[in-house]
Amino acid sequence: MSIDSKENGTEATPGEEGKFVDSAGNPIYSKNEDGTFDYATWRGYKKYSANCFQCHGPDGLGSSFAPNLTEQLQRINYYDFTGIVVNGQQNKWHPVNSIMPAWGEDVNVMCFLDSIYVYLRGRADGAIPRGEPKKPKINKEAQAAENACLGF
Ligand code: HEC
Repeated sequence: MSIDSKENGTEATPGEEGKFVDSAGNPIYSKNEDGTFDYATWRGYKKYSANCFQCHGPDGLGSSFAPNLTEQLQRINYYDFTGIVVNGQQNKWHPVNSIMPAWGEDVNVMCFLDSIYVYLRGRADGAIPRGEPKKPKINKEAQAAENACLGF
């Protein structure tokens, strides 16, 4: 069963740069009437797959050496998430040789931090199924913000 952000009790309203926010102002996914998700969520899937998949597994489901993020994001909020991704984390999930790299200097992650977050939040909520979400229409505002962040 798919649950979009509204059915999940958290209304998504349009925020800045073509993204959506919940009632607390934190980034959230939003489902369109045609079944696609918003542009940032789809981009988040792509950027997760490019940068996080190799350790955290397909669709956020984890591996023997990195945690299942669809489970961990049920207790980690947006601020915890961004702090961990920017600064890295060591030996909390597993006590020995367990290293989450710091991504704070990597624009390919930093320019897409909210997108990766909303994708994983949707996975943790059970709203986004496994696999690549159907490609939504390109959001020009979001794309311009990405390009500005990447320095294009
Ligand atoms: C080189 C492997 C590797 C890559 C690549 C990686 N991670 Fe991690 N990540 C880990 C490991 C290992 C941990 C557990 C660290 C610990 O034990 O404290 C972790 C922990 C985390 C946590 C905290 C989970 C918790 O419950 O404490 C988050 C959030 C996270 N990673 C997100 C990401 C995101 C987003 C990306 C992509 C931008 C990413 N990681 C890429 C290895 C990786």
